[in-house]
Amino acid sequence: MKKGFRLFNAYAWGIAGLGIFLLATNIPRFEDGGHLAEVLFLAVLVACGEAAAVPFPRGKGTASMATPLILTVIVLYGPAVGMWVAAVATLRKRDLSLEVPTTVVMFNRGVLTICAYVFSQIYFMVYGGFGNIEFPKGLVAFILAASAFTLLNACLIGGGIALDMRVSFSSIWRRNIVWMLPNMFALFPVGALMVLVVQQTSPPVLVFFYLPLIVTKVSLQKYIDLWETYNEMAAALSTALDARDSYTHGHSVRVSEYSGKLAKLLGLSDEEVELIKYVGLLHDVGKVGMSDSLLKKEGPFTYNEYEEMKKHSEIGADIIKVMKFLGKGEQWVRHHHERWDGTGFPDRLAAEEIPLGARIIACADAFDAMTTDRPYKEKMSYEEAKEELLRCSGTQFDPKVVEAMLKIIDHELLRK
Ligand SMILES: [Fe+2]
Ligand SMILES: [Fe+2]
Repeated sequence: MKKGFRLFNAYAWGIAGLGIFLLATNIPRFEDGGHLAEVLFLAVLVACGEAAAVPFPRGKGTASMATPLILTVIVLYGPAVGMWVAAVATLRKRDLSLEVPTTVVMFNRGVLTICAYVFSQIYFMVYGGFGNIEFPKGLVAFILAASAFTLLNACLIGGGIALDMRVSFSSIWRRNIVWMLPNMFALFPVGALMVLVVQQTSPPVLVFFYLPLIVTKVSLQKYIDLWETYNEMAAALSTALDARDSYTHGHSVRVSEYSGKLAKLLGLSDEEVELIKYVGLLHDVGKVGMSDSLLKKEGPFTYNEYEEMKKHSEIGADIIKVMKFLGKGEQWVRHHHERWDGTGFPDRLAAEEIPLGARIIACADAFDAMTTDRPYKEKMSYEEAKEELLRCSGTQFDPKVVEAMLKIIDHELLRK
């Protein structure tokens, strides 16, 4: 059994165990049947909210109306009811059909129960009781407790993902969690409003909160579908390009991967890392209009052929710039054949005049060309490619980018 797997299991069952303990020591009691009916109704709403959860387009996670509703239940009916609703009503069909590993299902129950408990304790400390709440004191207590709920939830889940994937917690925090927090915090006022609505009317009115949720789900799902189509189109375009030349098969995908790794190592933002992966995939898209005779030519180009070939970076930039998201990478495509010493093309830019993204793609592009078989030359070993990169550092390539590429070769490629 792998160490990361063992650690995750121990962590997950530790959290699940604490959750079970909290549930066992907090059994809800209903003195009058009316409250039981209300709670059951709200539990069904939580279950519907979870079933209608909207998946986030990036990373893991979903936005659902279940969380604010759970907080509403705690505020109105106390911690015991809230914890049980949080643990049980959030079970989804795939949790029950064993599609999801039992450890993960139990871990998620534990996380929600613990977070519900912490929410109730903070809310009680600030407000002093449960049931009807008065604003603004109730709102302050709600927001403080909900902030703790959200942060604790993010930390516990983030810790689980970090152990499961055997990566650092900070990278999971940056990649999967930070950008989700505003979405989660945005749901707090909805939760507070739900409490107010139930107080003024009755729980069934909460059904109306689901109408905007359904509209959001439908439009967000369309956005996600569109984003996936976008991904597939970019991948299909690069595959079509690579397919024209069997020798460069997979070239675009590898340039995309190397560029993403380089960008991450050089400290570019998550958005830029994502963008460079796409631009890396399409860096040679300008070759689409080139004849097969030129593209598949074995041996050196004539002067005219070389001039023709050089146009692909400008044509590619023109193609890219009309795309809304990728358009930001236009300059990276245009300048991916510039050289650090200013002797490249098309604009003979030098050193830092060349956009960093273009310097990264240039290095990734050249490294892949060195380490794959081409019609006119045999591939180099990684060690030989390292020497070649070092030899061209400061003339063809940015020395900083070469340094990062050497780290990737040493720590990732040579260890495979
Ligand atoms: Fe190129
Ligand atoms: Fe290329």
